[in-house]
Amino acid sequence: MSEVRVFLSGCMGRMGRVITEMCAEYDDTVIVAGSDVVENPNSTFPIYKDPMDCKEEVDVIIDFSHVSAFAKITEFAEKRNIPIVMCTTGLSDEQKTELEALSKKVGVFYSGNMSLGINVLIKLVREAAAKLYPDFDIELVEEHHNKKLDAPSGTALMIADAMNESVDNQLEYVYERQSKRQKREKKELGIHSIRGGNIVGEHKVMFIGGEEILTISHSAQTRNVFGRGAVAAAKFMLGKGPGMYDMQAMLG
Ligand SMILES: NC(=O)c1ccc[n+]([C@@H]2O[C@H](COP(=O)([O-])OP(=O)(O)OC[C@H]3O[C@@H](n4cnc5c(N)ncnc54)[C@H](O)[C@@H]3O)[C@@H](O)[C@H]2O)c1
Repeated sequence: MSEVRVFLSGCMGRMGRVITEMCAEYDDTVIVAGSDVVENPNSTFPIYKDPMDCKEEVDVIIDFSHVSAFAKITEFAEKRNIPIVMCTTGLSDEQKTELEALSKKVGVFYSGNMSLGINVLIKLVREAAAKLYPDFDIELVEEHHNKKLDAPSGTALMIADAMNESVDNQLEYVYERQSKRQKREKKELGIHSIRGGNIVGEHKVMFIGGEEILTISHSAQTRNVFGRGAVAAAKFMLGKGPGMYDMQAMLG
């Protein structure tokens, strides 16, 4: 198989650098160009401020950037007819709707978390919520590094949405308990964000019954876990036509 030619959006960020190092080690993927607001004269590939200036042939786009890059990178995917692996979190509801619309024209892989472990956790909490709610209260705690911009994490919302789906969308998300001075209601799903140091990503779901507590948690040890998932998704998207794809689709 020939090399998958990747365009890396947000190439100068933490995840961008992880992907750059990974692709340098792999024989079957090569980064042909990238985009970022930050420059790097020593980069091994051209970095564009506007992806539409890219002159290189591209098979797949990987985006680990920022919501402010969304309009330009999705325009690039649409106009050049290139499948995109969208990993940036914190997208607005409007941007998610635009991503759905884009998926009618090109392949869109979208996941708030590219790790295998989290996607298994999602299956587990879906089942636990269906069995334990409403007898058990459900609370979700997520922890990330102090540079993270969005809260709660995209992964926390993925986990919350999966549980909510399994209980016919009865849950109401509560982010700030201090703003409502009243007793916890059954339908509440408390979501709590902790930010500090270099925490890569911790997610813990607690099912709290009167006499027992079930905790299901995941701990990302390094950012490589997301990088590996994103590169695998890029290979998976090679030659894929229009449609929405996710980790569940890739893992079969
Ligand atoms: N889906 C996942 O599994 C997963 C895993 C880790 C991180 N993320 C998400 O990926 C994104 C990037 O994470 P990170 O830790 O690398 O962040 P980061 O802040 O280190 O990197 C973001 C990069 O994007 C660039 N950028 C910002 N605005 C831009 C714009 N308008 N145009 C072009 N480039 C722009 C920045 O200069 C920076 O180099 C975040 O949204 C994060 O939450 C997702």
